[in-house]
This record gives sequence, structure tokens and C-alpha cells, in this order.
Amino acid sequence: NQNPFTQSIEATDNFPYGFAELEAAAKEKLPTPFFGYIQSGASGEETLRNNEAAFEKYALVPRFLNDVSNLDTSIELLGKTYDHPFLLAPVGMLKMADEEAELAVAKAAANYHVPFIQSTVSTYSIEEIEAAAKNSPKWFQLYWSRDEKVSYSMVNRAEKAGYDAIVLTVDTFILGFREEDKRNQFSPLKKGFGKANYETDEAFLQSLSEHTDEAVIQKIVDHLYHPHLSWNHIAELKKRTSLPILLKGILHPEDALLAIENGIDGIIVSNHGGRQLDGVIASLDALPAVAKAVSGKLPVLLDSGIRRGTDIVKALALGADAVLFGRPFVYGLALEGQRGVEKVLANLIQETNVSLTLAGATDIASAKRMKVTRI
Ligand code: FNR
Repeated sequence: NQNPFTQSIEATDNFPYGFAELEAAAKEKLPTPFFGYIQSGASGEETLRNNEAAFEKYALVPRFLNDVSNLDTSIELLGKTYDHPFLLAPVGMLKMADEEAELAVAKAAANYHVPFIQSTVSTYSIEEIEAAAKNSPKWFQLYWSRDEKVSYSMVNRAEKAGYDAIVLTVDTFILGFREEDKRNQFSPLKKGFGKANYETDEAFLQSLSEHTDEAVIQKIVDHLYHPHLSWNHIAELKKRTSLPILLKGILHPEDALLAIENGIDGIIVSNHGGRQLDGVIASLDALPAVAKAVSGKLPVLLDSGIRRGTDIVKALALGADAVLFGRPFVYGLALEGQRGVEKVLANLIQETNVSLTLAGATDIASAKRMKVTRI
């Protein structure tokens, strides 16, 4: 019987605690254009800042004298049970942080029974990641392809490899205005990151006229640009897979209702970590209205700005069924590879467990009933 409050990495090994320290250590270690790509937000970074600031505008109101000696943090999501109320957000181009990239992250996630969401633009392919972390919980994030044959092909590969769900990202049909990357004249695809799923895809290879590196990259860029995506495509995608489909990037309650009408299985309230449209509502501020509109008909997940365990508790109390986070685990990966991701996970798990318990929750259902007040 593991004590849920003592799972963190020993304090003696000098691994940074807290997000600010993690980020500072990663900045020291990574080349400027790589760190800039990971850390920065779009345009003036208003949303990047507000995502974090939103959490400080809500305060937990705990209850006491409520026997909290047995904590159960497991969640049920789309028919599967996971040990913790969070998942690893899809992050592309991870080779920028570490040579082992997604392989290291998938293995770390497997060790904690946390779902790993693989990005379309990964450094390793669906099949390579499945081979590295066999039978662990994995979801596949789809960037819709301008040529829908490529979308269906990737979805079918993920299904065949045993992935549990498809996450269709809806907020990135064109790329946000990323000043830091422009400043650094940095384009990850040109560096050769994020090509693996394309280079191993039959439908994609067939769509190539030339096989030079330049032609491949140009074609991937063309595929990633898909502003024509609409609800009509959802019906077709549903026909092509038996996996549950979640939409990532929902912020408006009306879009959440349309997701239900269109037979979607779950939604992720997200603004892409402030990397797409700047000036949009912070994810946490969008959550209550979306959760109210959905009223339990679908699982509602949230990302953008989750930095610590108390953030997770607040998101649950405001209506999330689970959360995702990106940058914290990427910095762990940059610092110490798989072990670094495990350290970030261990600390986050311990802080979440301690926080849930101190706030009077014994499981995720009771965390969701917790009182939280706007300050
Ligand atoms: C991302 N994100 C992302 N999302 C997605 O759907 N596909 C992707 O390939 C990527 N790539 C990506 C790269 C990097 C470097 C970052 C930081 C983020 C967005 C990601 O899934 C998630 O929405 C945010 O990271 C959440 O915000 P936090 O936790 O980083 O604040």
C-alpha cells in the first residue's frame, strides 16, 4: 500500500521545485531558439500570462473534520480508468528538448499510468512510440490534414497501434503569430523536427511529387494549413474510426453544445497554452460556462496554465473532469530526459494529493463538489 502523500522525488537530488525554477533551469540548458519555441506565446503573450494569472483569481474554501485518511485519485474517462486526474498534453517537436523525445515521455507516463497524448508533429512515429511504451495508455492528437486521406490514415494507424482516443485540435488550422520564433528565425520543421508521422505514412508519401527534404517539409506545411475544417468533417471522421474523439481548443459554450450534437465524446477547454490566438479568454475563465453548458453529458478536460497541484484542484472544483499540462513536463524532459519527466510527475502527484486531502476531498468526485470562490 503506497502512501499517496510521499511519492515525490527526494529533495536531496537538486531537481527544481516549482514551475519558475524548472523554466529557469531549462532556459539555461537549451539553445535560445528551442527554449523560445517551447516557452513563448503568440503576439503580445497576453493569454500566456492570463492563463496562469487566472488560477490566482480563484480560492479554495476547504471543509474539515471529514475523515480524509483514504484518498482515491483515480478517474474514469471514456471507459478507461487512470490513476491520476491528469494527462500529458500533446506537444510536438520534442526532440528539441531531448534526443529520446516522445519515447522518453511515453515511458515516463507509462510508469505513472498517466495517458500520454502523442502529437501529429512528433519526432518519433506512432508505431515507434507504441513499441517503446507497450500497452500503456496513449491517445493520438490529430492535426487535420488539408488532404483528408492523410488524416484518416494517421487515425487508422493510431487505432491499429492500440491508442485509446483521438484528440482533434481545432484551434490550429493556421499557426499563431509567434514573435519569438520570428525573432530567432526559427522553424522547427525546417530543423527536421516533427516529420516522423508523415514520413511513415503511405497516404502522405503518395501525395508527394518529389522526395527531396525541401519538398517533404513544404508538403507537411501545406497539410498543416487547413482553415476549411468544419463540423461536416467531424461526421466523416467519426465514420472512419471506432475510437472516441475529443475536440481540443473549445472555449465557447455554444461550441461545446455543437460538439455534443455532432456526437463528439469529450472536449478539452484550451487556448493551446497561449500559442495561437492571443487575447483570448484564459482557459480557467472559460471553464465554468462550458462545464455548465455540457452539464455532465461529456467529459470536460482543461489545459493551459496548469503549473501545480493546487491548480489541478481548482480546475476540478470549477468543473473539469481532468486536466492536461504541457510545458512543465517538457522542461523536465529538457533537464533529465525520462527521469526528469518522472520527477515532474512525482512532485505534481504529491502536491495534488496533499492539496486534495487538505481541502477535504477523498476522491475526484468530492473534489468536483468543492467550494471555490472568485476573489
Ligand atoms: C504545444 N501544444 C500542442 N497542441 C497540440 O494539439 N498539438 C501539438 O503538436 C502541440 N505542440 C505544442 C508544442 C509546445 C512546445 C507547447 C508548449 C505546446 C499545446 C499543448 O497541447 C497544450 O495545449 C499547452 O501546452 C497547455 O498549456 P501549458 O500547460 O503549456 O501552459
